[in-house]
Amino acid sequence: MCGIVGYIGSKYAAPVLVNALKKLEYRGYDSAGIAVLEDEDIVVRKVKGALKNLVENITDKVIKTSESMSESECEKREQELIQETSKYVKGTLGIGHTRWATHGEPSNVNAHPHLNEDGTIAIVHNGIVENYAKLKAWLQGEGIVFKSQTDTEVIAHTINFYYEQFGDIFQAVTASLKKLEGSYALGVLCSDYPDRIIAARKESPLIVGLGKGENFIASDVPAVLEYTREVYFLEQKEIAVLYEDHVDLFDEDGNKIIKQPYHVEWDISSAEKNGYEHFMLKEIHEQPKALHDTIHPRLVFDGEKPVDIKFDDLNFDEAFKNAGRIVITACGTSYHASVVAKYAFEKFARIPVVVDTASEFRYRNPILKKDDVFIIITQSGETADTLAALRLAKENGVRVIAITNCVGSTASREADDVIYTWAGPEIAVASTKAYTTQLACLYLLALKCADLRKTISAQEYQHNIQELYSLSDKVSEILEDKTSIQKFVSRNFNKTKIFYIGRNFDSATSLECALKLKEVSYMHSEAFAAGELKHGPIALVDESTIVVAIATQKSLYDKIASNIEEVKSRICTTLVITQKSCNRFKNDEEKVIYDEVVKVPDTEDAFAPILSVIPAQLLAYYCAVHRGMNPDKPRNLAKSVTVE
Ligand code: F6R
Repeated sequence: MCGIVGYIGSKYAAPVLVNALKKLEYRGYDSAGIAVLEDEDIVVRKVKGALKNLVENITDKVIKTSESMSESECEKREQELIQETSKYVKGTLGIGHTRWATHGEPSNVNAHPHLNEDGTIAIVHNGIVENYAKLKAWLQGEGIVFKSQTDTEVIAHTINFYYEQFGDIFQAVTASLKKLEGSYALGVLCSDYPDRIIAARKESPLIVGLGKGENFIASDVPAVLEYTREVYFLEQKEIAVLYEDHVDLFDEDGNKIIKQPYHVEWDISSAEKNGYEHFMLKEIHEQPKALHDTIHPRLVFDGEKPVDIKFDDLNFDEAFKNAGRIVITACGTSYHASVVAKYAFEKFARIPVVVDTASEFRYRNPILKKDDVFIIITQSGETADTLAALRLAKENGVRVIAITNCVGSTASREADDVIYTWAGPEIAVASTKAYTTQLACLYLLALKCADLRKTISAQEYQHNIQELYSLSDKVSEILEDKTSIQKFVSRNFNKTKIFYIGRNFDSATSLECALKLKEVSYMHSEAFAAGELKHGPIALVDESTIVVAIATQKSLYDKIASNIEEVKSRICTTLVITQKSCNRFKNDEEKVIYDEVVKVPDTEDAFAPILSVIPAQLLAYYCAVHRGMNPDKPRNLAKSVTVE
């Protein structure tokens, strides 16, 4: 959701900025722009639509010169033209932005950067200025004429107002920040200061990349990985002033602060497609490694055999032992992980679990108790609603555990305890490896909690740990043969609706399967607890419908089989995802009830969600591809939802 970049150094800024913005494309955007200081003037180029439109606008050349050009030829030419941007915009200091419209439609004029009236100050902004209407009225009263409908433009004019008053750009920025309500990550350029970029953040994420003789700002690490792995994660209300050879950091009052840079361990290849057609497919295939990297460090081994779970870096044993409830909040896919966790905690640790979407939780005056264990789940660690839930819990004196994939994220810094999913950067907008690694962390916690509360025997505990440890190999096994899903999709991708049904753990998995499909293929998909079908949803089932039954819970095979028969008699197409040793879903000679049965390796029923979601991720991916969609960048979606 909006990407910010900035560069100061000896290279031409335009290609660096556009390349860095390409690394942030996954966040979602609908317009893009750059501002570069060329001699004494700020040159701005900004357009509605994709980054390739910006490249074409800057170079005045088209990327796709003939209809027959393949996707890879277009990508190669785009790269060449990105390098050529330096011929048209020549400075070595600049800021750039990909905008995801909130205030004002996507358009050339609403795209960032925005300028003050005489074009001497340029800014890029991520976040929402909640009091922009008030500020705008004030500035209009001062005679300022606004060009765009954005909330952001008020920032450029406010900085200008204080610059005229103080004659110092740093002072002007710090004074302006104090007037802003809401959230911001900000990059500021001023033509009177050709040696620096000023950056600041509140709520919205911003990092500073530290290079040799060059420095960067960006909304996220992948944008700078090509140049440096040393970064500062800016904290709430911190301000950075970047020069070519050093960076100064300040608090909101302008006092200098010192902090240690963080060394990023990922290598650049983790943010590249590595031969896969899409990031989504690559990330689906990275799940065995991601699961291993998340689970293995948390296990204690006796020889080769895992026998215990350790969270010795954290300090929550007593909290778990004495907890009255577990409360979990999150959004989207991460929320779906929390629904699986409810089943797991209740099964293993016999403790009541309340799950809620963070956007609902924060506004319903939730009942929180001192003996609650509060967990938030957030891949990015920056989701506005989830962070609000975290802060609400802390204000109520409740200890918060964050499960996140992003080291240095706001959630990781504000929570009392942090459990990382070691999935590596997830670039595709639709979560895959983040989800399964979140499940892995939640299972580890549920089992540890059960052991602490003595709700399972030592034997059961160890057996489950070993089973959990084996899941990464089982996921590899599923990914080795994707043909049945591919064939099913090639026969059925033009159906109009897909319903996922399941019972118990499978009903939780269904939620995530349906979300994945709708996000990337735009097919209408819903998840229903199988037992709820006949209470209404079955009215929707007809010949254009696919019903996917997740059926991995052994004791419920017969129940879900009846549900499948019910829908099949409404002439829909059916697909069953079940465990390998299950023989329950077989057609007899007279009639076909199960159009396709996909089997995943056998496991304990409680862990089946990690396996049964994989065929559903593949189904979503192949449906998107067959329907001509780009699964990496679904329309209207942003990877990191940093505004409400
Ligand atoms: C869906 C997806 C989203 C996110 C949601 C929360 O594929 O990725 O539903 O799960 O926006 O994001 P995080 O986990 O970063 O808080």
